[in-house]
Amino acid sequence: MSLPPGFLDELKTRTSLSQVVGRKVMWDQRKSNQAKGDLWAPCPFHQEKSASFHVDDRKGYYYCFGCHAKGDALSFVRETENVGFMEAVEILAQEAGLPMPARDPRAQEKSDRMSELAKANEAALRFFRMQLKTGAASAARAYLAKRGLTEPVQDRFELGFAPDGWQGLWDHLKGQGIAPDLILEAGLARPSNKGREPYDTFRNRIIFPIRDPRGRAIAFGGRAMDPNDNAKYLNSPDSPLFDKGRTLYNHGPSREAAGKGQRLIVAEGYMDVIALSEAGFTAAVAPLGTAVTEHQLAHLWRISDEPIIALDGDKAGLNAAYRVIDLALPLLEAGKSLRFALMPEGKDPDDLLRADGPEAVAAVLDGALPMVKLLWKRETEGRVFDSPERKAALDKALRDKLKLIRDASLRGHYGQDIKDLRYDLFRGGRPDTRAGQGGGGRARGPWRPKGAPLPPQPVTKASLLVAAGDEAQTRLRESVILAAVLTCPALIEEFEGDLEAMTCSDPDHASLRDAFLRHAPKDAPSAREVAEAAIGPGGVESLLAARHVAVVPCIRRSGDTSMARMTVAEEFAKLEAARGLEAEIREAVEDFEALPEEHLTWRLGEAAETRNRALRAQQGEDADFDTGANGAHIDRDERKLLDAMIETIDFARKRR
Ligand code: UTP
Ligand code: MN
Repeated sequence: MSLPPGFLDELKTRTSLSQVVGRKVMWDQRKSNQAKGDLWAPCPFHQEKSASFHVDDRKGYYYCFGCHAKGDALSFVRETENVGFMEAVEILAQEAGLPMPARDPRAQEKSDRMSELAKANEAALRFFRMQLKTGAASAARAYLAKRGLTEPVQDRFELGFAPDGWQGLWDHLKGQGIAPDLILEAGLARPSNKGREPYDTFRNRIIFPIRDPRGRAIAFGGRAMDPNDNAKYLNSPDSPLFDKGRTLYNHGPSREAAGKGQRLIVAEGYMDVIALSEAGFTAAVAPLGTAVTEHQLAHLWRISDEPIIALDGDKAGLNAAYRVIDLALPLLEAGKSLRFALMPEGKDPDDLLRADGPEAVAAVLDGALPMVKLLWKRETEGRVFDSPERKAALDKALRDKLKLIRDASLRGHYGQDIKDLRYDLFRGGRPDTRAGQGGGGRARGPWRPKGAPLPPQPVTKASLLVAAGDEAQTRLRESVILAAVLTCPALIEEFEGDLEAMTCSDPDHASLRDAFLRHAPKDAPSAREVAEAAIGPGGVESLLAARHVAVVPCIRRSGDTSMARMTVAEEFAKLEAARGLEAEIREAVEDFEALPEEHLTWRLGEAAETRNRALRAQQGEDADFDTGANGAHIDRDERKLLDAMIETIDFARKRR
């Protein structure tokens, strides 16, 4: 349907966003200024306790500083009511008392058709429900009882029974005046190819009605009572109302429960959802007999930032998890992820609940693995990496996976995690020799043969790190950053996270940084005041006058925000790159004291490779998980560190 020009503008002026939003949130009274139309609340799109969701009532826009959800009244209604654009317009128009323009006849027809189909389904649902109470359903009731689905549970999930026979439902619906073509289009009956009357789709099955989040009955699932039936479960075919790949069983109730803080669990089937739900895990959904799709993931992430995929702990379950990972990797964004809860071998959540109770399920959910762990498991489990070639092949496989992550910062973090896992694995050489090590309780302590004497304290360690000369370098970078934000305080907010994370190498730097973050001065004179209060006028003077600081262009010519921004960004990136390398060197130095020859040789090769990769990255050829987003920033100083590391390891090797 097309709307007449000016209709949406009129709707917008008549609509108060704060009123629309106000029904779904609790305003933070202290933070909000109602008179100014400046309102804050905990975000309805993600779970949080603070109020980072902002409504500008005058402009009619909202924005969440936490999850970056943004939009206007229309998008708010679409997201929260889970309706399409036109329906959202209708909802708002009705509230605003604005009559809807006459509908485009084709759209009107379609929407009428959909509600007719929903009505047919609703009538079928009543029929199935009724049938479950009849004598013909005694076996079905016994079966449900055996599976622990008591009557209240049956009512909550509206379970029903499709009797054995060919036209029970068909005759019933026709008798109610429902048009045959509607019954067929809803998939409740199928046309006969022998020229007879259409026959019921569901026969001799327990019926699980499927409702969309708006509560419309859109489809059914049916479980066979006959163990010899060739389809244990059968779903309604796709129809204008039902798109299997976009539907989740128990979507509406789960959304509500997740909104109240329940963790969102994705199980495999109807029985699991019901069992989980009844055991108190009320935010449980399932796809409908297919692997999870992109659309379903989008729905899941609208409900929860970190849905938990619950799977059988067998080979098939793992493979299903791997498929979900491949699907999810390109879609990941900061704050949106998945976890995987692997049930004990051969059990689904329903089985586990039955065998060991809700505590057992809770324990499995608590131990759900983050995606990165499963990615790692997939590439490493059951394999031995005892040669450089195998290790390189692993690196390549993992790198290829990480490349799928589009979000650069997230890709960096995944790279770091993988690097840590890889380090743990390779340090011991063979994963299977690691279990029995004494290790003295240090999780990442160097591998050492059983009973071998402790190596002498690494005397070279301190001197190597000092020789790397990075401490002075770090201090310099910090003072450039602090001086730059002092002259250009607009950057404080922009780099708040980096400033917070900065490990200050000098107490004055820490005081200055803390003061900036606390007072967030807006202009240079007040920044100066804040700084002087923190470290004294003399301290500020000497910070700005230090030779390496005074020569930085953005400080010499203060007032150029974009230049200052570039400087600050670059210095932060270099600090971070240096921190990563420093950690690597520390690890290497710890290593070489204890490692057997073979490993030392490998470590040496790896260090050289890192250096070479850093070089390549600098030339823009390769960005992978070692250098990550900072590849481009690895400069001469950092390369010097790596060279020093290589020399040290080589020295240790030759000394043997
Ligand atoms: P399962 O075979 O694991 O069944 O199928 P289940 O959920 O454990 O069911 P019970 O405990 O045997 O009753 C998991 C899901 O896969 C789909 C259904 O959605 C089912 O819930 N499925 C399974 C089908 O669509 N068709 C089938 O023939 C089997
Ligand atoms: Mn089962």
